[in-house]
Amino acid sequence: MATPHIEAEIDEIANIVLMPGDPLRAKHIAETYLTNVKIFNDVRNILGYTGYYNGKRVSVMGSGMGMPSIGIYSYELFKYYNVDKIIRLGSCGALIPDLKLYDVVLVDASYSDSTYAYIQSETSDKIMKPSLALTNHLEDIAEKENINITKGMVYSTDVFYDETFNYKVLADEYNCIALEMETFALFHNANICSKEAAAILTVSDSLVTKENTNSLEREKSFNKMVELALKSL
Ligand code: HPA
Repeated sequence: MATPHIEAEIDEIANIVLMPGDPLRAKHIAETYLTNVKIFNDVRNILGYTGYYNGKRVSVMGSGMGMPSIGIYSYELFKYYNVDKIIRLGSCGALIPDLKLYDVVLVDASYSDSTYAYIQSETSDKIMKPSLALTNHLEDIAEKENINITKGMVYSTDVFYDETFNYKVLADEYNCIALEMETFALFHNANICSKEAAAILTVSDSLVTKENTNSLEREKSFNKMVELALKSL
């Protein structure tokens, strides 16, 4: 079987999928952490792998950038591949001074002015929630493993180069602590498919201080987030 965007047999994909934005991150996770790895997708270079972590079967696949992209892949995984849980592993920009570069954010809600949910299923909600069970479980594992996390709402935007952007409004009026571009669509798809989703993000830049990360440090902090997801399996 295949969908327009994933060329895999149904049993090649595990029922839990870790989903970084960058397909090369998916490759890195598979090669660094998993055993007995098999690639299941390379359509459009959106690489997907299935392997084992401590005996637990897990898949890892890139989502691409933005809600249209993660919207396609998460929908196909939930709907046609019997995937039950997707954990997004992404990056975000800080909207509050307390959030520092490389901090890890556990998303407890996503606010968006995107039309994704409305166009998809006439849902006019502006706030999407993750699976409470999955998110609470990730929080418990973070505590057990001594991984510092900040829980909060993120703003999911459709526009990276937003010329009217005002981070203070998002932080002060909407209580968003960080921004990114995918989580709202992922949570919405999980809700309409009656599946589970969660999102863990690493702060890669700050809209407050205008600081940016370097690639080596980004990789190290990215690994912290991956280890949290893997230990939760
Ligand atoms: N904007 C949107 N998405 C992001 C950013 C940003 O500054 N940083 C990481 N993801």
